[in-house]
Amino acid sequence: MNATLEKLKHKFEQALVAAFGADYAGVDPILVPASNPKFGDYQSNIALSINKQLGQSPRTTAEQLVKHLNVSDLCEPPAVAGPGFINLILKTSYLEAQIKAAQADPRIGVATAKNPKRTIVDYPSPNIAKEMHVGHLRPAVIGDSIARILEFLGHEVLRISHVGDWGTPFGMLIVHLQQAYPEALRTTETLDLGDLSTFYRQAKKRFDEDENFREAARLAVVKLQAGDEETLLAWKIVCALSSRAYQVIYDLLGIAPFIERGESFYNLLLPGVVQALEAAGLLVEDQGAKCVFLEGFTNKEGNPLPLIIQKSDGGYNYATTDLAAIRYRLQVDKAQRVIYPVGAEQTNHFTQIFQVGRRAGWITDDVEFIHAPFGLVLGEDSKKLKTRTGETVRLRDLLDEAIARARDDLEARLQEEGRQETEEFKAAVAQAVGISAVKYTDLSQNRTSNYTFSFDKMLNLQGNTAPYLMYAYVRIQGISRKGQINFAQLGADAKILLTEETELALAKHLLQLSEVLGYVEADLLPNRLCQYLFELSQKFNQFYDQCPVLSAAEPIRTSRLVLCDLTAKTLKLGLSLLGISVIERM
Ligand code: ARG
Repeated sequence: MNATLEKLKHKFEQALVAAFGADYAGVDPILVPASNPKFGDYQSNIALSINKQLGQSPRTTAEQLVKHLNVSDLCEPPAVAGPGFINLILKTSYLEAQIKAAQADPRIGVATAKNPKRTIVDYPSPNIAKEMHVGHLRPAVIGDSIARILEFLGHEVLRISHVGDWGTPFGMLIVHLQQAYPEALRTTETLDLGDLSTFYRQAKKRFDEDENFREAARLAVVKLQAGDEETLLAWKIVCALSSRAYQVIYDLLGIAPFIERGESFYNLLLPGVVQALEAAGLLVEDQGAKCVFLEGFTNKEGNPLPLIIQKSDGGYNYATTDLAAIRYRLQVDKAQRVIYPVGAEQTNHFTQIFQVGRRAGWITDDVEFIHAPFGLVLGEDSKKLKTRTGETVRLRDLLDEAIARARDDLEARLQEEGRQETEEFKAAVAQAVGISAVKYTDLSQNRTSNYTFSFDKMLNLQGNTAPYLMYAYVRIQGISRKGQINFAQLGADAKILLTEETELALAKHLLQLSEVLGYVEADLLPNRLCQYLFELSQKFNQFYDQCPVLSAAEPIRTSRLVLCDLTAKTLKLGLSLLGISVIERM
């Protein structure tokens, strides 16, 4: 099924050729959803952009175009307004037919991509020699949502976690493991270090306080890179323990499974990067280091900035590994689109490696490499979120607190409503609401900005929050329970009748999901989907306040039940694309 916007675009393209000749084939009709419902549903500004070359006023241009515009199956007769805007109002009969078709469609009217692309989403990609903290939230949540949306649209998605599992920070963990848990190295059984965070802290403390320990850690890194077997074994154990601890949190967050392909994976491919850059004529020796001089980046003196590929001691950098990953993703994975949802502080890094990849001839014009940057999570003091004692916030603590607060809110509400619920119910609702609230609040911000973390705001039942959206869904399930309606059986013979203002507004909004997902596919901003779902909930609530459903007479009753059902399906699908599951009661 086609999105309405696409159908209209096509009609405009035909009209442009019919009115002004073949030169106008393929011209973008500049058609957008109307900013104000007063002007209709869609508006085209094309006449104001081509009138000069036609040598006439925009208004005449618009009028000529409208004469050739054959949209009578979708719209009321088009109106030319102001200097030459073309306004379109969708016909009620068209909307009714679309609603009916969407309800019968398992994809509720969302078409799959015309050009599916083999896509890699590089996430959550944490550095695992650290405890999981609040900074690990955004890549996981944003990457997961982008991957889900692209996959739903029919792209072949590979989720690859570029784990930081190599290099200096591992020295201290390796030595601490060897010294404090020597038995771990002699058994094949998985070691239980209890709380991994204690292990991290102990290692860090010794590193900070003990000169000998620091030296041992430094040596361990050298041994690791030289491939020393004992050291490699200790390193593998540390990585496995970290991965497992991280996975517990990803499970709690409901992050879909991904492939772990860390920095260490590319070790053997690093010399090949140097060779290939050499062969491409990009490599320059500078004070013993092998570099590529960057275009558009200069140092303080105004000279071109070098990107170090191999250090004078033979070691490699983060950038070298990423260049190896670029080649691997192109040559082996055959990726056509590679997306890196990574913090904005790495913008230069990505600009630089993409530039080198292009200049080396690896990244050609038919593939896309995109850094999708995001901002920081701030505390109420507008600084990076910290605990009261000034430490970084552990992600586990943050999620536990969200669940505990959701539980308090629920208990208060149950008391107010005089409801009795089982412990099982309360625990399940608190967990679903708490986790969803944290994820949704992160996704609902424009990802490029910083945002302020506030439990009170995110758990509020009013406003652009997960609980508000989840509650709209619950409300609809309540209608089906109360009226003993089986939505799945609302049938093929249902007649859709849109008569009231709020019904029309809801129906129009329901039919825009496809367009919204199309925008997210292009700009990778899941907050657009959040905004859409928020407005959907609002429009549903307005409809439900104005229009009786269960007490309405047929055929209106069934028609309204279809609107309820389609709203629930849309909320459920939309939230699932954000990585959030709905619940039936709350
Ligand atoms: N591990 C890095 C960090 O935590 C992020 C890696 C992102 N992906 C990449 N291919 N560089 O900062």
